Amino acid sequence: MEKHFNRTLVTAALPYANGGVHIGHLAGVYVPADIYVRYLRLKKQEVLFVCGSDEHGVPITIRARKEGCTPQDVVNRYHSLIKSSFERFGISFDIYSRTSSDVHAQTASDFFRTLYDKGEFVEQESEQYYDEEAGVFLADRYITGECPHCHAEGAYGDQCEKCGTALSPTELINPRSAVSGSKPVLRKTKHWYLPLDKHQPWLEEWILKEHADWRSNVTGQCKSWFDMGLKPRAVSRDLDWGIPVPVEGAEGKVLYVWFDAPIGYISNTKELLPDSWEKWWKSADTRLVHFIGKDNIVFHCIVFPAMLKAEGSFILPDNVPANEFLNLEDYKISTSRNWAVWLHEYLDEFPGKQDVLRYVLTANAPETKDNNFTWKDFQARNNNELVAVYGNFVNRALVLTQKYYDGVVPACGELTDYDRQTIAEFTDVKVQVEQLLDHFRFRDAQKEAMNLARIGNKYLADSEPWKVVKTDPERVKTVLNLSLQLVANLAIAFEPFLPFSSARLRSMLAVEELGWDRLGAIDLLPAGHRLGRPELLFEKIEDAAVEAQVQKLLDAKRANEAAARKAAPVRPVVAFEDFEKLDIRVGTVLSCERVPKSDKLLRFEIADGLENRTIVSGIAKHYKPEELVGRQVCFVANLAPRKLRGIESQGMILSAEAPDGTLSVVQPGREVAPGSEVK
Ligand code: MF3
Ligand code: ZN
Repeated sequence: MEKHFNRTLVTAALPYANGGVHIGHLAGVYVPADIYVRYLRLKKQEVLFVCGSDEHGVPITIRARKEGCTPQDVVNRYHSLIKSSFERFGISFDIYSRTSSDVHAQTASDFFRTLYDKGEFVEQESEQYYDEEAGVFLADRYITGECPHCHAEGAYGDQCEKCGTALSPTELINPRSAVSGSKPVLRKTKHWYLPLDKHQPWLEEWILKEHADWRSNVTGQCKSWFDMGLKPRAVSRDLDWGIPVPVEGAEGKVLYVWFDAPIGYISNTKELLPDSWEKWWKSADTRLVHFIGKDNIVFHCIVFPAMLKAEGSFILPDNVPANEFLNLEDYKISTSRNWAVWLHEYLDEFPGKQDVLRYVLTANAPETKDNNFTWKDFQARNNNELVAVYGNFVNRALVLTQKYYDGVVPACGELTDYDRQTIAEFTDVKVQVEQLLDHFRFRDAQKEAMNLARIGNKYLADSEPWKVVKTDPERVKTVLNLSLQLVANLAIAFEPFLPFSSARLRSMLAVEELGWDRLGAIDLLPAGHRLGRPELLFEKIEDAAVEAQVQKLLDAKRANEAAARKAAPVRPVVAFEDFEKLDIRVGTVLSCERVPKSDKLLRFEIADGLENRTIVSGIAKHYKPEELVGRQVCFVANLAPRKLRGIESQGMILSAEAPDGTLSVVQPGREVAPGSEVK
């Protein structure tokens, strides 16, 4: 039975506030969600679009520890970055809040307490790894060791990435804490579990029977979870960052991030509409739709619905249109390896081109399978589609009207068969676009919109007004009238996809609003209406611009490879006596010059407190010789002399090598007498 809905609540996955937003997030979640919401708004439906930053979880604490700041500092920084880049990109949230807000802490805490009081949790003690040095319990991901199956080093507590085996931390041989590097110990701890096994029967019925219309990738994943059998999931953690578990005796424990984050959708609605939020969450005539990436399916289709059901007063999602992943230049996007196109950087580097990225990401949306973003394709879609098809048609229609009729819409005369045939090709565009959008098929919907421009281009090319104007000026009026109606249709059809361009196009047409319900009509612009000034809707993107982007990615990749090499494990242990064999001293650089015919070597004369010495060092690419004169350096004083380019080098200057290969000489923290020992 079709349900009847009066309003739609759309959520987009809350991004983690420990990094920026990249094109994978945009293509998977935010662009389709925004298209959908804009479409519903254009149809004058009651809709609310809710999002915010996900600010809890272990990775944020690890990042803070690394950077020597607090978790709140980390999330403050990224929350602002994410929020402002979404805004600049035109993602039209009704609210973008955050899970470190007070409203959220209260809402999530109350939610837990309700479930607790209803007896919806199971309490259980278990032994977990604890890092005594850092004083923290360790999440599975933060324990590494030798894989018990393939014996690879560096397997994680939840999985060995070498052989793919799922692990539990206690299976690791020689476990180490990724936080401090120390050896973790097992400690008893108590947690609260959501008994998903108990919820499995109704979940199966609800997803596989009642929601057989969900995307097959979504139901497929759920089915495989059901086949494995759902297990109780811990909803608390031993951590000092998060929302405290509101139960006596739970000191030092917080809600698991995946318990509190989805409640963020509710808190953010509450923050925006303190008096009417309940109608969005507790009315059977509200339709709830979650836009997410595929890695979030289990949480939105199984865990969160189980939480909502256990609470008892909330509606459940009506659809969860999850996308697959977008790759970048054939490789998986990776935040940690910096293989990504960051939204805030794109916005700076391609000002005014929000719609180009929106267009390309929708055209390549990973709706049914993983897809690939390449800069070449980005350029080609811009130049061959946006510029050559859409922009070109609009420009020709507007410029010809300017030229022949001084920018005033001419009256439509008698229609020819060809006119009627052309009109027939696009009058049902509304039905088609709507049907696709209603089924979350954004790529195909956008193709339909682009098809209007193709129809227009063909119509102009076939009708040749620039020739006919000499023989049959009345005919040209009809051709341009119809072309302008098509241009106005384009402004409507592209409105959900390319909102910036539609706004510009409306101003070129000198109309304020066109109205979605009029899509497909041929009387959008009345005869006699004066148009605005024609401008170019899109501009070509040159090779140099995309080549620079590819270069930027390659640079990032090279830096990462270097970092991976540098991050090689620490060398084998040496005895103190061996260390003591090295005689490291401080010297002052008396002179420094390039070694002729070498682009690497510099020749130093060093005051070493004894007899002064010559050292040849391979740092010419990193310093100008004159920069170093007078500076103090550290050098190995008892290294066997070596001849380099015919010069005897009496020692070695120490420098630090950064992951990208840059060398920096090591200096004492303050000026010391030449010859001072480093120990
Ligand atoms: N932060 C999560 C991620 O990026 C998504 C959280 S969605 C929510 O994968 F429902 F939990 F909010
Ligand atoms: Zn393994």
